Amino acid sequence: MNPFPPNFLWGAATSAHQVEGHNHNDWTEWEKLGLVKNHDRSGQACGHYERFHEDFALAKKLGHNAHRFSLEWSRIEPRPGVYDLEAIEHYRQVLEELHHSGIEPIVTLHHFTLPIWVARYGAWSNQRMVDDFGRYVMTIVKTLGPLIKYWVTINEPTVITSLGYLTGIWPPQKHSWVQAWVAIRRMVTAHKLAYQIIHRHYPDARIGVANNLSDFVPAQQRNLLDRGLAGQARYWHNRWWLDQTYQTQDFIGLNYYFHHPVHFQPTLSITKLMRPVPDPRVLTSDLGWEIHPAGMLRLIEWLQQYQRPIIITENGIADAADHLRAAYIRDHVKVLAIARQRGYDIRGYLHWSLLDNFEWREGFSPRFGLIEVDYHTLKRTIRPSAYTYKQICEQNGL
Ligand code: FCB
Repeated sequence: MNPFPPNFLWGAATSAHQVEGHNHNDWTEWEKLGLVKNHDRSGQACGHYERFHEDFALAKKLGHNAHRFSLEWSRIEPRPGVYDLEAIEHYRQVLEELHHSGIEPIVTLHHFTLPIWVARYGAWSNQRMVDDFGRYVMTIVKTLGPLIKYWVTINEPTVITSLGYLTGIWPPQKHSWVQAWVAIRRMVTAHKLAYQIIHRHYPDARIGVANNLSDFVPAQQRNLLDRGLAGQARYWHNRWWLDQTYQTQDFIGLNYYFHHPVHFQPTLSITKLMRPVPDPRVLTSDLGWEIHPAGMLRLIEWLQQYQRPIIITENGIADAADHLRAAYIRDHVKVLAIARQRGYDIRGYLHWSLLDNFEWREGFSPRFGLIEVDYHTLKRTIRPSAYTYKQICEQNGL
């Protein structure tokens, strides 16, 4: 019997800043510092803001029945309390186009980028952001609410805090445990506030968070310090946020990329401490990330304690040559089939990404797309692995 139910969501994910082009937000400001690989700047990105019709036509052709994307707050509210009706209208068209194409939208409200005015007052370091986020959510609910069933409030809260507030390699470039702790606490409040606002208007909405969960393991199983470190990493990266928010997640979104062996070193540098220990026997992506589908199964099993349905909100690989992606997808879908056979309630799989795009600090070089983008001409070319995935989508499984 097919372990996947007929309404299983199969599709891909993107985020506004990575594909739209011509944004003006905290990231575009930060990109000017030249800290992105090759000094890349997001610039026109994939030109998706104008080309979404073409891109959704490709998604449809590739058999997708769901699509995750994000709304760009900086476009919608360029100044505090001032809303850009054209931007809202744009996202209405995006949502309508998806519905007309038979593709279920999954909408992220906050995917890393912020309006400049929010960044200026310190973003999550300032309590004011919680209220401003709530007001933005309220505006979306009132204008676009009827078109959205699946909501993701915040993308990867623990990535925002660890890279933006703890190691400081992303904006707002803070290096402080206290700041990171404060930021997470505020995100918990902001998420719960968004959850209440949306549900007050739409009791049937399905609201979650896209949680970046990593499969931390000790580099040496018998090394007690490695085991302790893996335990701590699992606690702070995976458990802490979920324990505080799972009751307000109608589904748990899982972004799975990392099997992460850790080795204890006597250092106070969190970056050094958490540097993964590469295993030379394991295949890696163009970014050096290990390919390890079994880690996703372990995380799905671990998530059962929260008794919530799961949607894989992201999973994918930087693979410019497209020689690993087809197997990567098949192997991860196999894991989902096993998980479903074991009775775990998984509702969807959204591959990262529909298109090649601007990969944050790594710039444009990593190629995550099912569809290749030529950044000079913006021409789209479907990669062979996209057809492997199409078959999975159309057959509802392997
Ligand atoms: C995730 C992000 C997404 C993308 C992938 C590769 O952490 O949510 O925007 O950059 O990694």
